[in-house]
Amino acid sequence: MNATKKEKLQELSDLQPPSKLIKGHGGETFSQLGHKWVETFKLLADLQPDDTVLDVGCGPGRMALALAPYLGEKGRYEGFDIKPKDIAWCKQEIETRWSKSRFQLVDIKNEHYNSTGTISADKFKFPYEDNTFDFVFLTSVFTHLLPADLFNYLQEVSRVLKPGGSCLITYFLLNESIRNSIQADKARFSFAHNPQPHCYIEKPENPEDAVAYDQEFICNLYSQVGLNIEKPISFGGWSRTVDKNEVRHGQDIILAVKSDSKQIKPSESESNQLPLITLKINATRLSLLISSAIVIWKN
Ligand SMILES: C[S@@+](CC[C@H](N)C(=O)[O-])C[C@H]1O[C@@H](n2cnc3c(N)ncnc32)[C@H](O)[C@@H]1O
Repeated sequence: MNATKKEKLQELSDLQPPSKLIKGHGGETFSQLGHKWVETFKLLADLQPDDTVLDVGCGPGRMALALAPYLGEKGRYEGFDIKPKDIAWCKQEIETRWSKSRFQLVDIKNEHYNSTGTISADKFKFPYEDNTFDFVFLTSVFTHLLPADLFNYLQEVSRVLKPGGSCLITYFLLNESIRNSIQADKARFSFAHNPQPHCYIEKPENPEDAVAYDQEFICNLYSQVGLNIEKPISFGGWSRTVDKNEVRHGQDIILAVKSDSKQIKPSESESNQLPLITLKINATRLSLLISSAIVIWKN
């Protein structure tokens, strides 16, 4: 990449969307937080300049702006979101200046962000081919999705990742120590309402405003969709269970890697072979029976 191109992408990374788009996205710290996240992507997921990355629920482009100077000539960025104004701004201000980026609007319904949406998130197929991305991330998105939507999205993340590719997703996770912190009134949220198994919300009148999940439930979903959690969960500051100096971000982070091949559990492979073996034995017995019958009949 030549120097002027690099400088332009560096300038782009400090661009700030209009304040009405970044309300609730951290205000003045909007771009600082984007840069901090890119450092986290490098550290936890070993993000490389040549990677092809997908930002699900990209909002007004916080991560895209910060990634622009890092992703190189061979790198590529894709982002999609359900908010028309955010995507219009990203297309106009980022896509036109950064040729490696592409943004798409999808009209998915979410009571908190797009209540008039026409597509249901639990059936939505991400608009990309299988095995496309080296890295997929969702920051502060699953904290707004109910179980059926989350499960479909996790399956889609796995589908579009290349084998060996990684995904970084943030959550509000509940485990024993976090529950104790909530009981002691230390955590930022209480998640006192339990509308569905393993799913907890803050506001019954607006369920998708903040959604938490049982940690064990989420970890099981990962193994169901072929994603391996290879590093310890990085717990965030929201629950006040981690020392201030060790906290990376506000929410809990799960980093996982897509299995290289579809793993078949030993019990499954054994049980798949069992009927075949039985069939072979039965066929042998049958042919023996028939030949004995023929011999008897002839005699
Ligand atoms: C708190 S914002 C986070 C934005 C961005 N990921 C970031 O970290 O700066 C949550 C984003 O998720 C998006 N969102 C909510 N439901 C979604 C869905 N089903 N599919 C894609 N994006 C969704 C919202 O429109 C919003 O932009």
